[in-house]
Amino acid sequence: MQHAGIWGIGSFVEGREVTNTELEKTLDTNDEWIRTRTGIERRVFAEDDVNTSDMAYYSAIEALNDAELNAEELDMILVATVTPDYPFPSVSSLLQERLGAEKAAAMDISAACAGFIYGLATAEQFIKTGMYKHILVIGSEKLSKVTDMKDRNTAVLFGDGAGAAVVGPVEKDKGFLSFELGSDGSGAMHIRQDPQLIMNGREVFKFAVRQMGESSIHVVEKAGLTKDDVDFLVPHQANIRIMEAARERLDLPKDKMAVTVQKYGNTSSSSVPIALVEELKNGKIKDGDLVVMVGFGSGLVWGATAMRWGR
Ligand code: COA
Repeated sequence: MQHAGIWGIGSFVEGREVTNTELEKTLDTNDEWIRTRTGIERRVFAEDDVNTSDMAYYSAIEALNDAELNAEELDMILVATVTPDYPFPSVSSLLQERLGAEKAAAMDISAACAGFIYGLATAEQFIKTGMYKHILVIGSEKLSKVTDMKDRNTAVLFGDGAGAAVVGPVEKDKGFLSFELGSDGSGAMHIRQDPQLIMNGREVFKFAVRQMGESSIHVVEKAGLTKDDVDFLVPHQANIRIMEAARERLDLPKDKMAVTVQKYGNTSSSSVPIALVEELKNGKIKDGDLVVMVGFGSGLVWGATAMRWGR
């Protein structure tokens, strides 16, 4: 079977920066509460005329350049999103046209904040079997469209952004070593859009602390390795306390975990690729490193992968 890995990555987080102090003006909240409970200091809301497909496009261009691949060479586009421009057509189809990816199949994935990991796992299957060679996987979200800015339980948590990865064939000992995907629909009502975002924070918190740690351990074991082999953790950026719990399960030091939640808040499916891009730029992830990525979200769902960085 052909091994699959990441050839190139890109991200887009631009718009209006909103600090906790600014939220204090319109909500019964305060900077201290938000920082100590979540780790968030600010978030970025995309401009009114920038939609999910626009952010996906900008991150895709960066990822294609990084991978040194032309859009015409793409076989498939997978966009993970819960905030598409329209219920249909898919963001992936909008993107396929805009990129000029003439031969690419296109579909969106709805797995909330675990969507990017679900996308990577889906791409890996097509590459493993030899059906496709080059797949663009994107997490893109404009959560500001669905957040109730009068609800302090949720308004302080979320932000907008996009992150992309070009997935392709890699050497035998590189790329994705294992995946775990899961769902527990008994918690489906804990985070939902009806018509705006509604959340039972305490229940989600308990689930996330348990599941992020367990899934991280599972993918390492499935890869035939132990937690001592892990070099770097890229967790979904929902809440620093949840992320710290996962890091502690892997016995990793603080500087071995990607942290962008303070700057961008929770950007759902895009948080893992955005954090990945930043840590690669910071030189924290090197060729040959064992990287664990893990996410959870509405569904409730979760997804994790252990991968050997490089191609
Ligand atoms: N500012 C000030 N007070 C707030 C607040 C805010 N923005 N939001 C909630 N509160 C209040 C609550 O009303 C509650 O008041 P009460 O005790 O009078 O009822 C109090 O703060 C404590 O709430 P609690 O739920 O115990 O806080 P917490 O420590 O669990 O933190 C979350 C709340 C939302 C930060 C936390 O539960 C969380 O992160 N959950 C997971 C959410 C998540 O990750 N969602 C996305 C999934 S992808």
